Amino acid sequence: MSDKDVIILGIESSCDETAASVVKNGRIIMSDIIASQADFHEQYGGVVPELASRMHVDAIYPCIDSALKEAGVTLDDIDAVAVTYGPGLVGALLVGLSAAKGLCAVSGKPLVGVNHLHGHICANYLCFPELEPEFLCLCVSGGNTQIIHVKSYQEMEILGKTRDDAAGEAIDKIARVIGLGYPGGPKMDKAGQGGDVHAYEFAFNHMGDTLDFSFSGIKTSALNQINKIRQKGEEIDICNFAASYQHHIAHILADHMVKAVEKTGIKTVCLAGGVSANTFLRKAFDEASIKHDLRLYYPKLRLCTDNAAMIASAGYYEFIGGRTDDLALNAAPSLKAGR
Ligand code: KG4
Repeated sequence: MSDKDVIILGIESSCDETAASVVKNGRIIMSDIIASQADFHEQYGGVVPELASRMHVDAIYPCIDSALKEAGVTLDDIDAVAVTYGPGLVGALLVGLSAAKGLCAVSGKPLVGVNHLHGHICANYLCFPELEPEFLCLCVSGGNTQIIHVKSYQEMEILGKTRDDAAGEAIDKIARVIGLGYPGGPKMDKAGQGGDVHAYEFAFNHMGDTLDFSFSGIKTSALNQINKIRQKGEEIDICNFAASYQHHIAHILADHMVKAVEKTGIKTVCLAGGVSANTFLRKAFDEASIKHDLRLYYPKLRLCTDNAAMIASAGYYEFIGGRTDDLALNAAPSLKAGR
């Protein structure tokens, strides 16, 4: 570590992962600790917000301790503490935010509030040293589906977004209905492997000339088919159904990104967020990148879903860009990208 290195401690607790990480110069992961609650929430079929907050309280300081120890640093070596302040579950966000504020209060280190969605985009910087703005990014997580124009490390513009359900929500819901349980996304992905992607057909929602999405009609068309099949006393072919449904959603997302490339002329494209782990989505984007000559990036699987390394990376770019927050920073559960 040289004197010129900027070391950021990142903290994440927006949903059901408690995480802490130390990152050097926004790009090099020195430690990356994640305590996931997913197995616990499985019994309830989804995240129970109050229980998530209580579990964050138990896990937050052990995670921070482990992250510092694994990186071989102390709080003295840290230049700033970056923490997710939104979007997410309010109680869950407040646990990470309070821990970060406490550390800043005792150490005098600056606090940097990070937009969780910007963090997902920055996961790509941790995987690809050559990647720099500007580029287009499809941000697809449990609650968001957006095409974002990343103009610089701090400046972003939303070019298109879902008008109803997020793609992740549409996948999670159908996973539950066909009996795959929680967490639906990864289970649906696994269930569809090797399936016939043309076995079932789903609605298309045309959003005119915009880059917006709509997934509620597609989800309803899947629910209607499931009900009809069950009413006839027949079985759904889970593998083929999962494959066709994810293929359909993946191609809508890829087609929209191609439209965004044509509109902007920007040919560097990234994927970000939990759903970017989806193999059908990656395949659709791989095909589109070959056909349209795009430079395509997606983070390695561990960095697709919630983690604190991406928060530390986003915090680094805010920090060196001159932005810090005071200790009155509050949680912003409905924060949008670009803010
Ligand atoms: O980004 P993330 O970890 O948390 C949010 O910020 O929302 O995303 C969680 C979402 C969930 O909907 C989860 O089912 C989905 O990412 N997900 C997947 C896969 N892995 C995680 N969806 C589809 N295929 C996957 N392999």
